[in-house]
Amino acid sequence: MSLNGAGYAVERYTQATLVRSAIRLDKNQMSEAVILLVVKKIGVALGNEAINQAASYFQKYVAQLTELQGSMGRIRRELRLMHEFLSRMDIRNRKNKMYEIWVEDVRMLAHQIEDIVDDYSHLVSHKIKHDDTGWATYLKKGFKRMKGPNALLSLNRIAPSVKEAEANLVHLFQAKERWVRMVADETSGESSCYIVEASRHLASISCSLSEEDLVGVDENRRRLCEWLAGDKLEREVIVLHGMGGLGKTTLAANVYRNEREKFECHAWVSISQTYSIKNILKCLIIELFRNAKQNPPANIEDMKTEGLQDELKAFLRDRKYLVILDDVWAPEAIGNLFGALVSNLKGSRVLVTTRINGVTHLAFPDKRIMLEPLSQNESWELFCKTAFPREKKLECPTEVTQLAYQIASKCKGVPLATVSVGRLLLVRDKTEEEFRRIHNQLDWELINNPSMEHVRNILYLSYIYLPTQLKSCFLYCSLFPDDYLFTRKKLVRWWIAEGFVEKRGGSTMEEVAEGYLKELVHLNMLQLVERNSFGRIKAFRMHDIVHELAVDLCRRECFGVSYSCENKHVEFLEEKDERRMVIHRLDKDINQVISSECRLRSFIALDKAMPSSTLLPLLAEKCRYMSVLELSGLPIDNVPDAIGDLFNLRHLGLRDSNVKLLPNSIEKLSNLLTLDLCTSEIQELPRGIIKLNKLRHLFAEKANDRSGRQLRCRTGVCIPRGLKNLRELQTLQALQAQDEPLSWLGELRQMRSIKIWDVKGSCCECLCESLRQMEFLSYLSIAASDENEILNLSSLNPLPSNLEKLRLRGRLAQASMLLGAAGGQNHLHSIHLSWSQLVDDPLPSLSRWSNLTDLLLNRAYVGDELVFRHGWFPTLKELYVGDMPHLKRIEIQQGSMASLQQLYLVNLSSMMEVPPGIEFLTSTLKSLGFAEITQQFLAALHQCSRINCGIRWWYTLLGEDRTQEALM
Ligand SMILES: *[C@@H]1O[C@H](CO)[C@@H](O)[C@H](O)[C@H]1NC(C)=O
Ligand SMILES: *[C@@H]1O[C@H](CO)[C@@H](O)[C@H](O)[C@H]1NC(C)=O
Ligand SMILES: *[C@@H]1O[C@H](CO)[C@@H](O)[C@H](O)[C@H]1NC(C)=O
Ligand SMILES: *[C@@H]1O[C@H](CO)[C@@H](O)[C@H](O)[C@H]1NC(C)=O
Repeated sequence: MSLNGAGYAVERYTQATLVRSAIRLDKNQMSEAVILLVVKKIGVALGNEAINQAASYFQKYVAQLTELQGSMGRIRRELRLMHEFLSRMDIRNRKNKMYEIWVEDVRMLAHQIEDIVDDYSHLVSHKIKHDDTGWATYLKKGFKRMKGPNALLSLNRIAPSVKEAEANLVHLFQAKERWVRMVADETSGESSCYIVEASRHLASISCSLSEEDLVGVDENRRRLCEWLAGDKLEREVIVLHGMGGLGKTTLAANVYRNEREKFECHAWVSISQTYSIKNILKCLIIELFRNAKQNPPANIEDMKTEGLQDELKAFLRDRKYLVILDDVWAPEAIGNLFGALVSNLKGSRVLVTTRINGVTHLAFPDKRIMLEPLSQNESWELFCKTAFPREKKLECPTEVTQLAYQIASKCKGVPLATVSVGRLLLVRDKTEEEFRRIHNQLDWELINNPSMEHVRNILYLSYIYLPTQLKSCFLYCSLFPDDYLFTRKKLVRWWIAEGFVEKRGGSTMEEVAEGYLKELVHLNMLQLVERNSFGRIKAFRMHDIVHELAVDLCRRECFGVSYSCENKHVEFLEEKDERRMVIHRLDKDINQVISSECRLRSFIALDKAMPSSTLLPLLAEKCRYMSVLELSGLPIDNVPDAIGDLFNLRHLGLRDSNVKLLPNSIEKLSNLLTLDLCTSEIQELPRGIIKLNKLRHLFAEKANDRSGRQLRCRTGVCIPRGLKNLRELQTLQALQAQDEPLSWLGELRQMRSIKIWDVKGSCCECLCESLRQMEFLSYLSIAASDENEILNLSSLNPLPSNLEKLRLRGRLAQASMLLGAAGGQNHLHSIHLSWSQLVDDPLPSLSRWSNLTDLLLNRAYVGDELVFRHGWFPTLKELYVGDMPHLKRIEIQQGSMASLQQLYLVNLSSMMEVPPGIEFLTSTLKSLGFAEITQQFLAALHQCSRINCGIRWWYTLLGEDRTQEALM
């Protein structure tokens, strides 16, 4: 512990230990996931065509290879049976000691087999890179350069290990028959299996969550809003208190969202359990500044606690601020913080949510709200809403009403538990038998794990019913800090690289993974935090109680470890059979964490301050099996040659690093799926990149101007010859087109997301031809090579039918032609036009894209007036208009942009008049900003009665940094 929270640490620790011992016996649930991963791996290894080619090259080894393959196949069949058996297992066996030991053995063997399979795949795929004789020697002797304990096994050594593994498996099966007595489910022998089956259909159900789940909170919400808005000028502290799962955070978030715009600045900070006061201060400052549209102090990373406190005080002193401190665990945790939350006379408010009694005294007694469990009626209402939603035309069949009512009441009015059980029932048959089964299992949990928090028992049930692949995905998320904000795309790429996701029918792995994500959100295992402007899941967190549960499950199974300074989990590092490691914060030498016998498959570093120069060489040397390496944000300069030895590597994340060049050895990473060098210093890729024919996502872009307003704010990489070989590519950000016509680009048929910089007008026609062949394209960004180059995109008409986001940067030949062609169905939701310098008003043609939710016009138009007419842009949520020196007037007619939530006008130096009609937006607008405005325009804003009648707005003056809030 870094601060005076020793008592707190002890409390936390005891709590964690209690929980851990309570669910100590639940190993089988995880082994199931481990086994499934190995089964998949063997499948891939056997499907490797190289081995068949190899056989024809090397008569001498045919027999040996065939035999090996045979063994592998048999192992795979056994493991599959094992997996099926474990997933059918009645959960009551979890208390069976013999069974527990047996399952642990299965898990260990599965890990051993995983290692062998990786060696085997490596061996087989290496054939391709060696000539005949080279490979023959290689088969016999193994990889010469590799020495020490990690040296890979040659064929001669793999074969016996496979045999041994096979024998061990057989033995394990026999041992089970002999020793392990199982409890059978007397109602039906296939219960759990059936349940797992039923869960598989979850994907089709769309998700809905959170605020709709607020039942019976009207009174509390009203009181909260009243206090926040009250006319008391002293800073006030409000505490929202209650046990886990009552919906404190949800209620706070709801109120925060609705009230925050009434404050000059606001911030939401989750106090993670591994908090440090310095981190909280830093987060607060960054959030406050960002929400006030200002850049945080540049040296914030180097500041000491005192410096951060001073910075915060100075910022808050004269402002009306709103700060939410979510889930505070100990009063000491924020004692230091309160000094910096200045007690000014501006009507500022601090809202604290907590589960801990000792925290309530932060607020005066009349400013505390104790959340109570729901009443029976409310609880039943919420349960029915989730289990039998009216919009799905479901209702509770009379024959199960009694049972359903009993199940609901077992949740004791805790919304989180109620919703979680409700969701579970939603996807089951509405039969008496099924309801009775759930009822009995819930009972069993509650009776057998009395030490576990009530809610956790109920959540645990949701976990048990997850299909195996979702279990892995779920546990994976628990390796991250409890307040970690996941984003969809990033998490999906990690899951795929981890091997959790299978291709399903015509869907890509990415699509399947997004389905998983929706399921987890739907089941309340992940909480939705943000959707993008057109409603797609964008960011989410794990609920803290769910996180605690998952952490405990995860640790015991060697699924992975997370590492942080106040490590409560240190004891587990000794097991040394972990396959995944996430570093939250590192306070010691990395050498002490990575053992020499390292079998890690994933390493994710979240601590951007950890020493990074020796990290990559160390990992490349010691962790041969590594498949996911995520080092984004670390100031890494060089990638060592040895990276090429990580034959298993599927994900390499070096976003925001200082990497300028990649070594040629990259070409050996034949399993790589994602290479992420976004906003690094990279400008060129090694030629060998074209050999990575499994690559799906390639990010390589250098940032020149972080504001993104310059024409050439970023640079792509030069195009390596032969890039068209990468047939699996879905993401390519970004290419530096220069004089290339890019006619081959169309061969990349899987492309979803492409960004091209430095395009010459003369190449446009050819480029468009290529782009039209990408039928799945959903994101397209094209930037001209200079200000006067003209992009003629008339050949891209009609636009690819799946296009969702379009970014055009540079002069446009004819906006009306390209952009007016909104024929038929389309999915275009977002258009950004920068530097187009159009002479004709682009709005009439843009308005025909009636499904737009996001529109940005930056230097897009040289005229002096823009008129938004009645009925235009009915679904638009975000509008940005900037850097147009001639624009004098923006008119908003009644009935245009009827859903607009955010409006930003930036650097419009000729504008003197407050946009007529802006008052029509009042009912929907949540954020209104005028940046870099003139004194005259400011005066006009202040005098304008249309705007000062209920809309809150902020502004910055031209040439000044400080954001001001206009108050009413
Ligand atoms: C609960 O609901 C029942 C029937 O819907 C009603 O009769 C009863 O008065 C309600 N109880 C409370 C406390 O609201
Ligand atoms: C744009 O290209 C099309 C053919 O691709 C051509 O017909 C048209 O004249 C061009 N427009 C301009 C303004 O150059
Ligand atoms: C807007 O979206 C709806 C539904 O997604 C679709 O039916 C309609 O054709 C779209 N409108 C246009 C102009 O593409
Ligand atoms: C603001 O607009 C002017 C005129 O268009 C331009 O010269 C200037 O670069 C813009 N400011 C920024 C920060 O882009």
